[in-house]
Amino acid sequence: MLVLGIETSCDETSAAVVKDGSEVLSCIIATSKKDFQSLSGVIPEDAARKQILSILPVIDKCLEEAGVNSRSLDALAVTRGPGLLGSLLVGTVTARALAKVWDKPLIGVHHTLGHLSSTWLREKTDLEKNEPAFPILTLSVSGGHTDLWYRISHTDNQLLGSTRDDAAGEAFDKGASLLGLNYPGGPELEILAHKGDADCFPFPVPLKEDATLDFSFSGLKTSLKYLLKDLASINPDFINLKKSSIAAGFQRAICAHLANRIIAALDMHHGTKEVHIVGGVSANQVLKAAVEERLMNSGVILRTPSSLRFCTDNGAMIAAAGTFLMRDE
Ligand code: KG4
Ligand code: ZN
Repeated sequence: MLVLGIETSCDETSAAVVKDGSEVLSCIIATSKKDFQSLSGVIPEDAARKQILSILPVIDKCLEEAGVNSRSLDALAVTRGPGLLGSLLVGTVTARALAKVWDKPLIGVHHTLGHLSSTWLREKTDLEKNEPAFPILTLSVSGGHTDLWYRISHTDNQLLGSTRDDAAGEAFDKGASLLGLNYPGGPELEILAHKGDADCFPFPVPLKEDATLDFSFSGLKTSLKYLLKDLASINPDFINLKKSSIAAGFQRAICAHLANRIIAALDMHHGTKEVHIVGGVSANQVLKAAVEERLMNSGVILRTPSSLRFCTDNGAMIAAAGTFLMRDE
Protein backbone atom coordinates (compact mmCIF):
# COMPACT_ATOMS: atom_id res chain seq x y z
CA MET A 1 0.00 0.00 0.00
CA LEU A 2 1.53 3.32 -1.13
CA VAL A 3 0.38 6.41 0.76
CA LEU A 4 1.32 10.06 0.25
CA GLY A 5 1.37 11.82 3.65
CA ILE A 6 1.13 15.60 4.00
CA GLU A 7 1.93 17.47 7.23
CA THR A 8 1.59 21.24 7.68
CA SER A 9 0.42 21.68 11.28
CA CYS A 10 3.14 24.13 12.35
CA ASP A 11 5.79 25.87 10.25
CA GLU A 12 6.96 22.71 8.43
CA THR A 13 5.72 21.76 4.97
CA SER A 14 6.32 18.07 4.56
CA ALA A 15 5.29 15.34 2.14
CA ALA A 16 6.33 11.69 2.12
CA VAL A 17 5.59 8.47 0.29
CA VAL A 18 5.44 5.46 2.60
CA LYS A 19 4.97 1.83 1.65
CA ASP A 20 2.89 -0.42 3.92
CA GLY A 21 3.06 2.04 6.83
CA SER A 22 6.78 1.65 7.39
CA GLU A 23 9.11 1.84 4.39
CA VAL A 24 9.84 5.50 3.68
CA LEU A 25 10.43 5.91 -0.06
CA SER A 26 10.84 9.68 0.28
CA CYS A 27 10.29 12.35 2.90
CA ILE A 28 10.76 16.03 2.08
CA ILE A 29 10.61 18.61 4.87
CA ALA A 30 10.71 22.36 4.18
CA THR A 31 10.76 24.62 7.20
CA SER A 32 10.62 28.34 7.82
CA LYS A 33 12.01 27.94 11.38
CA LYS A 34 15.14 29.94 10.48
CA ASP A 35 12.95 32.99 9.79
CA PHE A 36 11.63 32.79 13.35
CA GLN A 37 14.96 32.07 15.05
CA SER A 38 15.34 35.47 16.69
CA LEU A 39 11.75 35.39 17.97
CA SER A 40 10.58 32.97 20.64
CA GLY A 41 8.01 31.29 18.40
CA VAL A 42 6.40 31.08 14.97
CA ILE A 43 4.23 33.88 13.49
CA PRO A 44 1.24 31.80 12.24
CA GLU A 45 0.17 34.06 9.34
CA ASP A 46 3.74 34.30 8.11
CA ALA A 47 4.28 30.53 8.31
CA ALA A 48 1.07 29.81 6.35
CA ARG A 49 2.00 32.25 3.56
CA LYS A 50 5.35 30.48 3.14
CA GLN A 51 3.60 27.09 3.12
CA ILE A 52 1.30 28.16 0.27
CA LEU A 53 4.43 28.70 -1.82
CA SER A 54 6.24 25.53 -0.78
CA ILE A 55 3.52 22.87 -0.67
CA LEU A 56 3.34 21.95 -4.39
CA PRO A 57 7.13 21.95 -4.99
CA VAL A 58 7.54 19.78 -1.86
CA ILE A 59 4.95 17.26 -3.12
CA ASP A 60 6.49 17.21 -6.63
CA LYS A 61 9.96 16.59 -5.18
CA CYS A 62 8.63 13.90 -2.86
CA LEU A 63 6.98 11.92 -5.70
CA GLU A 64 10.08 12.33 -7.87
CA GLU A 65 12.43 11.14 -5.13
CA ALA A 66 10.19 8.14 -4.38
CA GLY A 67 10.15 7.30 -8.09
CA VAL A 68 6.36 7.06 -8.18
CA ASN A 69 3.63 9.01 -9.94
CA SER A 70 0.17 9.86 -8.69
CA ARG A 71 -1.32 6.79 -10.43
CA SER A 72 0.71 4.39 -8.25
CA LEU A 73 -0.60 5.90 -5.00
CA ASP A 74 -3.31 4.01 -3.11
CA ALA A 75 -4.35 6.92 -0.91
CA LEU A 76 -3.47 10.32 0.54
CA ALA A 77 -3.26 11.15 4.24
CA VAL A 78 -3.15 14.65 5.70
CA THR A 79 -2.84 16.15 9.21
CA ARG A 80 -6.32 17.37 10.12
CA GLY A 81 -5.26 18.96 13.46
CA PRO A 82 -4.44 20.14 15.99
CA GLY A 83 -2.15 22.91 14.82
CA LEU A 84 -2.03 26.43 13.42
CA LEU A 85 -5.27 27.04 11.56
CA GLY A 86 -3.81 28.73 8.46
CA SER A 87 -1.06 26.11 8.16
CA LEU A 88 -3.50 23.23 8.51
CA LEU A 89 -5.71 24.77 5.82
CA VAL A 90 -2.83 24.85 3.34
CA GLY A 91 -2.27 21.10 3.82
CA THR A 92 -5.89 19.96 3.95
CA VAL A 93 -7.09 22.06 1.01
CA THR A 94 -4.16 20.89 -1.13
CA ALA A 95 -4.70 17.24 -0.14
CA ARG A 96 -8.43 17.49 -0.86
CA ALA A 97 -7.83 19.01 -4.30
CA LEU A 98 -5.21 16.40 -5.23
CA ALA A 99 -7.34 13.50 -3.98
CA LYS A 100 -10.22 14.76 -6.11
CA VAL A 101 -8.13 15.28 -9.24
CA TRP A 102 -6.24 11.98 -8.84
CA ASP A 103 -9.41 10.14 -7.77
CA LYS A 104 -7.82 8.65 -4.64
CA PRO A 105 -9.18 8.20 -1.11
CA LEU A 106 -8.09 10.80 1.45
CA ILE A 107 -7.83 10.22 5.18
CA GLY A 108 -7.49 12.91 7.86
CA VAL A 109 -4.98 12.07 10.62
CA HIS A 110 -4.72 13.49 14.14
CA HIS A 111 -1.24 14.98 14.54
CA THR A 112 -0.60 12.98 17.73
CA LEU A 113 -1.49 9.67 16.06
CA GLY A 114 1.12 10.63 13.45
CA HIS A 115 3.80 10.95 16.15
CA LEU A 116 2.62 7.70 17.81
CA SER A 117 3.11 5.93 14.45
CA SER A 118 6.59 7.38 13.81
CA THR A 119 8.37 4.43 15.48
CA TRP A 120 7.19 2.17 12.63
CA LEU A 121 9.08 4.20 10.01
CA ARG A 122 12.16 2.69 8.35
CA GLU A 123 14.51 4.18 5.78
CA LYS A 124 14.46 2.49 2.36
CA THR A 125 17.98 1.23 2.97
CA ASP A 126 17.21 -0.15 6.43
CA LEU A 127 16.50 -3.81 5.78
CA GLU A 128 15.98 -4.75 9.41
CA LYS A 129 12.26 -5.56 9.69
CA ASN A 130 11.68 -5.60 13.38
CA GLU A 131 8.16 -4.23 13.81
CA PRO A 132 7.07 -2.83 17.19
CA ALA A 133 4.84 -5.11 19.27
CA PHE A 134 1.81 -4.04 21.33
CA PRO A 135 1.08 -3.32 24.16
CA ILE A 136 3.25 -0.23 24.03
CA LEU A 137 3.69 2.65 26.44
CA THR A 138 4.32 5.77 24.36
CA LEU A 139 5.59 9.08 25.66
CA SER A 140 4.74 11.76 23.11
CA VAL A 141 6.79 14.87 23.77
CA SER A 142 6.86 17.90 21.50
CA GLY A 143 6.53 21.67 21.59
CA GLY A 144 2.76 21.39 21.80
CA HIS A 145 2.08 18.39 24.01
CA THR A 146 3.40 15.96 26.59
CA ASP A 147 1.24 12.85 26.77
CA LEU A 148 1.68 9.32 28.06
CA TRP A 149 -0.30 6.68 26.16
CA TYR A 150 -1.00 3.01 26.76
CA ARG A 151 -1.47 1.47 23.32
CA ILE A 152 -3.19 -1.85 22.71
CA SER A 153 -3.35 -1.36 18.94
CA HIS A 154 -3.05 1.44 16.38
CA THR A 155 -6.63 2.47 17.05
CA ASP A 156 -6.98 1.56 20.75
CA ASN A 157 -5.09 4.17 22.76
CA GLN A 158 -5.61 5.09 26.40
CA LEU A 159 -4.31 8.46 27.62
CA LEU A 160 -2.65 7.91 31.02
CA GLY A 161 -1.33 11.39 31.73
CA SER A 162 -0.72 14.83 30.21
CA THR A 163 1.01 18.03 31.10
CA ARG A 164 -0.82 20.38 33.44
CA ASP A 165 0.93 23.45 32.03
CA ASP A 166 3.81 23.70 29.55
CA ALA A 167 4.77 20.93 27.15
CA ALA A 168 8.23 19.37 27.54
CA GLY A 169 9.44 20.96 24.28
CA GLU A 170 8.01 24.27 25.40
CA ALA A 171 9.99 23.94 28.66
CA PHE A 172 13.16 23.37 26.61
CA ASP A 173 12.29 26.33 24.37
CA LYS A 174 11.49 28.69 27.26
CA GLY A 175 14.56 27.60 29.22
CA ALA A 176 16.71 28.09 26.12
CA SER A 177 15.24 31.53 25.57
CA LEU A 178 16.08 32.51 29.19
CA LEU A 179 19.63 31.34 28.49
CA GLY A 180 19.76 33.54 25.38
CA LEU A 181 19.53 30.70 22.82
CA ASN A 182 17.59 30.83 19.55
CA TYR A 183 14.18 29.27 18.89
CA PRO A 184 13.53 26.34 18.80
CA GLY A 185 15.78 26.02 21.81
CA GLY A 186 15.65 22.27 22.53
CA PRO A 187 18.46 21.19 20.18
CA GLU A 188 20.66 24.18 21.09
CA LEU A 189 20.13 23.63 24.81
CA GLU A 190 21.13 19.97 24.44
CA ILE A 191 24.36 20.95 22.65
CA LEU A 192 25.16 23.61 25.26
CA ALA A 193 24.40 21.23 28.15
CA HIS A 194 26.79 18.66 26.73
CA LYS A 195 29.75 20.79 27.89
CA GLY A 196 28.29 21.39 31.34
CA ASP A 197 28.10 19.60 34.68
CA ALA A 198 24.51 18.90 35.75
CA ASP A 199 25.62 18.44 39.39
CA CYS A 200 26.61 22.13 39.68
CA PHE A 201 23.01 23.31 39.51
CA PRO A 202 20.58 20.59 40.56
CA PHE A 203 16.98 21.58 39.75
CA PRO A 204 14.03 20.06 41.66
CA VAL A 205 12.38 17.21 39.71
CA PRO A 206 8.69 18.18 39.29
CA LEU A 207 5.89 16.22 41.06
CA LYS A 208 8.44 13.75 42.42
CA GLU A 209 6.37 12.53 45.35
CA ASP A 210 3.05 12.78 43.51
CA ALA A 211 1.24 9.57 42.53
CA THR A 212 -0.20 11.11 39.33
CA LEU A 213 0.99 10.25 35.82
CA ASP A 214 0.61 13.90 34.82
CA PHE A 215 3.47 16.25 34.07
CA SER A 216 4.30 19.82 35.04
CA PHE A 217 7.12 22.03 33.78
CA SER A 218 6.16 25.59 34.71
CA GLY A 219 7.86 25.33 38.15
CA LEU A 220 11.14 24.37 36.51
CA LYS A 221 11.00 27.39 34.24
CA THR A 222 10.36 29.62 37.28
CA SER A 223 13.31 28.00 39.15
CA LEU A 224 15.54 28.77 36.19
CA LYS A 225 14.32 32.36 36.02
CA TYR A 226 15.09 32.94 39.72
CA LEU A 227 18.43 31.16 39.55
CA LEU A 228 19.52 33.41 36.67
CA LYS A 229 18.29 36.50 38.55
CA ASP A 230 20.18 35.49 41.71
CA LEU A 231 23.36 34.70 39.81
CA ALA A 232 23.17 37.98 37.88
CA SER A 233 22.84 39.94 41.11
CA ILE A 234 26.03 38.33 42.44
CA ASN A 235 28.06 38.73 39.26
CA PRO A 236 26.64 39.30 35.74
CA ASP A 237 29.57 37.41 34.15
CA PHE A 238 28.91 34.34 36.23
CA ILE A 239 25.91 33.27 34.08
CA ASN A 240 28.00 33.25 30.92
CA LEU A 241 30.71 31.23 32.64
CA LYS A 242 28.27 28.67 34.01
CA LYS A 243 25.66 28.64 31.21
CA SER A 244 26.41 25.09 30.06
CA SER A 245 26.15 23.67 33.60
CA ILE A 246 22.89 25.54 34.21
CA ALA A 247 21.54 24.09 30.94
CA ALA A 248 22.73 20.60 31.96
CA GLY A 249 20.97 20.81 35.35
CA PHE A 250 17.76 22.10 33.76
CA GLN A 251 17.80 19.39 31.05
CA ARG A 252 18.48 16.65 33.59
CA ALA A 253 15.44 17.65 35.67
CA ILE A 254 13.15 17.60 32.59
CA CYS A 255 14.47 14.18 31.55
CA ALA A 256 14.24 12.74 35.10
CA HIS A 257 10.62 13.90 35.34
CA LEU A 258 9.74 12.23 32.01
CA ALA A 259 11.61 9.02 32.94
CA ASN A 260 9.92 8.87 36.38
CA ARG A 261 6.50 8.93 34.75
CA ILE A 262 7.39 6.16 32.29
CA ILE A 263 8.59 3.90 35.10
CA ALA A 264 5.50 4.64 37.24
CA ALA A 265 3.20 3.82 34.28
CA LEU A 266 5.10 0.57 33.60
CA ASP A 267 4.54 -0.47 37.24
CA MET A 268 0.81 -0.10 36.62
CA HIS A 269 0.81 -1.91 33.26
CA HIS A 270 2.57 -5.25 33.59
CA GLY A 271 2.98 -7.05 30.28
CA THR A 272 3.96 -3.89 28.40
CA LYS A 273 6.38 -5.02 25.69
CA GLU A 274 7.87 -1.75 24.53
CA VAL A 275 8.37 1.86 25.59
CA HIS A 276 8.37 4.40 22.76
CA ILE A 277 9.39 8.05 22.94
CA VAL A 278 8.18 10.16 20.02
CA GLY A 279 7.85 13.84 19.05
CA GLY A 280 10.49 16.56 18.75
CA VAL A 281 11.93 16.03 22.25
CA SER A 282 12.59 12.34 21.48
CA ALA A 283 15.62 13.63 19.55
CA ASN A 284 17.20 14.38 22.94
CA GLN A 285 19.94 11.86 23.70
CA VAL A 286 20.04 12.61 27.44
CA LEU A 287 16.35 11.70 27.70
CA LYS A 288 16.93 8.48 25.79
CA ALA A 289 19.89 7.55 28.00
CA ALA A 290 17.93 8.34 31.20
CA VAL A 291 15.04 6.06 30.18
CA GLU A 292 17.40 3.36 28.84
CA GLU A 293 19.16 3.25 32.20
CA ARG A 294 15.88 2.89 34.09
CA LEU A 295 14.71 0.08 31.75
CA MET A 296 17.89 -1.94 32.09
CA ASN A 297 17.15 -5.60 32.94
CA SER A 298 13.38 -5.01 32.66
CA GLY A 299 13.01 -6.90 29.37
CA VAL A 300 11.08 -3.93 27.97
CA ILE A 301 12.37 -2.61 24.64
CA LEU A 302 12.99 1.14 24.24
CA ARG A 303 12.34 2.62 20.80
CA THR A 304 12.62 6.14 19.45
CA PRO A 305 12.07 7.03 15.76
CA SER A 306 14.78 5.40 13.61
CA SER A 307 15.93 8.76 12.25
CA LEU A 308 16.06 12.26 13.75
CA ARG A 309 13.93 13.55 10.87
CA PHE A 310 11.08 11.31 12.04
CA CYS A 311 11.20 12.81 15.58
CA THR A 312 10.12 16.29 14.54
CA ASP A 313 7.07 16.98 12.36
CA ASN A 314 7.13 15.08 9.06
CA GLY A 315 4.80 13.73 6.38
CA ALA A 316 6.00 10.12 6.73
CA MET A 317 4.43 9.67 10.17
CA ILE A 318 1.12 10.97 8.76
CA ALA A 319 1.31 8.51 5.85
CA ALA A 320 2.03 5.66 8.31
CA ALA A 321 -0.84 6.62 10.63
CA GLY A 322 -3.17 6.98 7.62
CA THR A 323 -2.21 3.48 6.45
CA PHE A 324 -2.91 1.97 9.89
CA LEU A 325 -6.25 3.80 10.17
CA MET A 326 -7.37 2.52 6.77
CA ARG A 327 -6.22 -0.99 7.65
CA ASP A 328 -7.69 -1.19 11.17
CA GLU A 329 -10.96 0.73 10.84
O1 KG4 B 1 7.19 17.49 17.24
P1 KG4 B 1 7.78 18.82 16.95
O2 KG4 B 1 8.66 18.96 15.72
O3 KG4 B 1 6.68 19.91 16.77
C1 KG4 B 1 5.53 19.98 17.58
O4 KG4 B 1 4.55 19.26 17.28
O5 KG4 B 1 5.64 20.76 18.55
O6 KG4 B 1 8.59 19.27 18.26
C2 KG4 B 1 9.29 20.47 18.34
C3 KG4 B 1 9.83 20.61 19.76
C4 KG4 B 1 10.45 21.97 20.05
O7 KG4 B 1 9.98 22.43 21.29
C5 KG4 B 1 11.96 21.65 20.12
O8 KG4 B 1 12.68 22.52 20.99
C6 KG4 B 1 11.94 20.24 20.67
O9 KG4 B 1 10.85 19.63 20.01
N1 KG4 B 1 13.19 19.53 20.37
C7 KG4 B 1 14.08 19.16 21.33
C8 KG4 B 1 15.18 18.57 20.64
N2 KG4 B 1 14.91 18.60 19.30
C9 KG4 B 1 13.68 19.19 19.16
N3 KG4 B 1 14.05 19.27 22.66
C10 KG4 B 1 15.10 18.78 23.35
N4 KG4 B 1 16.18 18.23 22.78
C11 KG4 B 1 16.27 18.10 21.44
N5 KG4 B 1 17.35 17.55 20.88
ZN1 ZN C 1 4.53 17.43 16.31
